[in-house]
Amino acid sequence: MSAEAVILLGAPGAGKGTMAEGIREAGNFIHVSTGDMLREAVKAGTPLGREAESFMSKGMLVPDETILKIVRERLSHGGAEAHYLFDGFPRTLAQARGLDAELSASGVTLKTVLLLDVPPALSVQRLTGRRICRQCGANYHVQNIPPRRAGVCDVCGGELYQRLDDRRETILKRLEVFQEQTAGLIAYYHERGQLQRVDSSGPREATVAEIIKRLQ
Ligand code: AP5
Repeated sequence: MSAEAVILLGAPGAGKGTMAEGIREAGNFIHVSTGDMLREAVKAGTPLGREAESFMSKGMLVPDETILKIVRERLSHGGAEAHYLFDGFPRTLAQARGLDAELSASGVTLKTVLLLDVPPALSVQRLTGRRICRQCGANYHVQNIPPRRAGVCDVCGGELYQRLDDRRETILKRLEVFQEQTAGLIAYYHERGQLQRVDSSGPREATVAEIIKRLQ
């Protein structure tokens, strides 16, 4: 078996993180979420975190070079048979080209790009209701996927919090940034015959099952 990669592409709130959680085991994937990596750096107060926070809090993208550096570092630990699941990366044409170069240098085949499709109004509904566990990172939604006890994680009992960039005005900015800087990747991968559209507006279990089917 050789190393390969799958990209989850989609607007904020399309369900990239939720789907990654659902399919990770089925594909034995190494989940590479640039958003999670940046949030960890922010939490740890590293120089990367301080740089990233100034962009993330405004709903803007972190510079391409910074992102490519952290992804390169992650790829260097993968091994010859790794299966990567990219979530929230690439997000610009420069990142997509940088990823192409990294994958070919490390002998990793890009298997497919799954575009998770949701209407913008649904993104807003999902993001305003999203809650995350401070301790284990589990992801909930106050209406769609509620925890058994409000504010408490079902998995580890940790406290649930709302991301700073999940405030309505920042969500609208992130959706605008997606249209301006990321949506162009749909044509980029479509022209290369690598894009598959997945309707991500239905229930979580149905979308997870559909993705697993597509990956087989
Ligand atoms: P990042 O963390 O990547 O955020 P995002 O792309 O905006 O995506 P989200 O995490 O908000 O949404 P998602 O699609 O994962 O949805 P989720 O599954 O959580 O990036 C954050 C910031 O970091 C960026 O703004 C940027 O500043 C920076 N950054 C990151 N990567 C970068 C890069 N490559 N380049 C430059 N900057 C970068 O679902 C949302 C909610 O909906 C949840 O509550 C969930 O429970 C619910 N839900 C999901 N699916 C369903 C369903 N099927 N049914 C019902 N509810 C559902």
